[in-house]
Amino acid sequence: MPQQRPVRRAKITALGTYVPPRLLTNADLEKMVETTDTWILERTGIRERHIVEKGVATSDLALKAAQAALAERGLAPTDIQAIIVGTVTPDMFFPSTACLLQDKLGAKGAWGFDVSAACSGFVYSLQIGAQLVQSGAHDRVLVVGADVMSSIIDYTDRATCVIFGDGAGAVLLEPCTPEEEQQGLGLLDFIHEVDGSGGCALNMPAGGSLNPATHQTVEAKMHYVHQDGQAVFKYAVRKMAESSERILERNGFTGADVNCFLPHQANKRIINATADRLKMPADRIIINIDRYGNTTAGTIPLAMHTAREQGRLKKGDLCLLAAVGAGFTVGATLLRWAC
Ligand code: UT7
Repeated sequence: MPQQRPVRRAKITALGTYVPPRLLTNADLEKMVETTDTWILERTGIRERHIVEKGVATSDLALKAAQAALAERGLAPTDIQAIIVGTVTPDMFFPSTACLLQDKLGAKGAWGFDVSAACSGFVYSLQIGAQLVQSGAHDRVLVVGADVMSSIIDYTDRATCVIFGDGAGAVLLEPCTPEEEQQGLGLLDFIHEVDGSGGCALNMPAGGSLNPATHQTVEAKMHYVHQDGQAVFKYAVRKMAESSERILERNGFTGADVNCFLPHQANKRIINATADRLKMPADRIIINIDRYGNTTAGTIPLAMHTAREQGRLKKGDLCLLAAVGAGFTVGATLLRWAC
């Protein structure tokens, strides 16, 4: 069933992104683990990723992305009423990254919180933010997807260290005008799902209440990302396509109607398999995994940035966002670009 008719529809009014300047190329990784540029490129589509210098945290990346979004809209930090940060690499367990960002940004008067949904963190946060606007609770909500994956990656494990990068993106949500609603602009629909039975396929096993940090957990490398790559791959291919098909169908669209497909960037082969199943022409698919790797909650706003950079995202475009991540978490969003 489609969502209930909102009181008023939310739209994205500005986008800002940030990746740290330091590059980690496939050639660099060839010197660190037993891998090759050819293997990485063929199996994932990644050429390089950006990683932070020591001492730079998720809130620092989120701050730069948020400032860029505010500058684009010409708003002050104090104009923001709520901040939602999708991340699995918070600066610390608590306070939340949203609290740290609120302070660094100077968003006095705003409230906020983090959303832990791994690679679906941005789309989950987007729906929560949209509903704060739709309900009339707020007029300006900042939604951020940001991760410093390099802080939880074992750079001796070739199965994971070649995949991930650091990055952040932020969007500002505001209400559509009645005219914009009539034109069908804004955030149209969301489908979200979790399947906790897949929890062990991708996780960071220690550091929480189950396995608090000890010398043993550190020695056993339990504070790093552990992944059953093939299990995640198969689930991602199936669920990215299924959730995308469902959200298109229930809104009366097909893959051919989508102007801009903004998928989570986990693996080029997952993206292409999803697009094939949706019978989506190649010119609609945004792929930037070659430049950034998998930045977890950062990938979709970074894909929006790439789409704009390449002149492939214009006002009125029907956009499909799709993500699958640790949890498992699944998310699809349908929107008409409104700025
Ligand atoms: O965003 C969150 C969700 N994460 C994902 O969506 C990731 C999903 N999974 C994947 O993208 C892929 O499964 C990987 C990229 C992680 C791995 O690719 P794969 O094609 O599934 O490789 P595999 O794990 O089946 O490994 C194939 C071979 C193995 O060697 P043997 O056993 O065949 O001799 C691996 O040891 O490739 C080997 N291998 C590597 N070789 C060179 C694994 N990693 C590497 C590497 N360089 N970096």
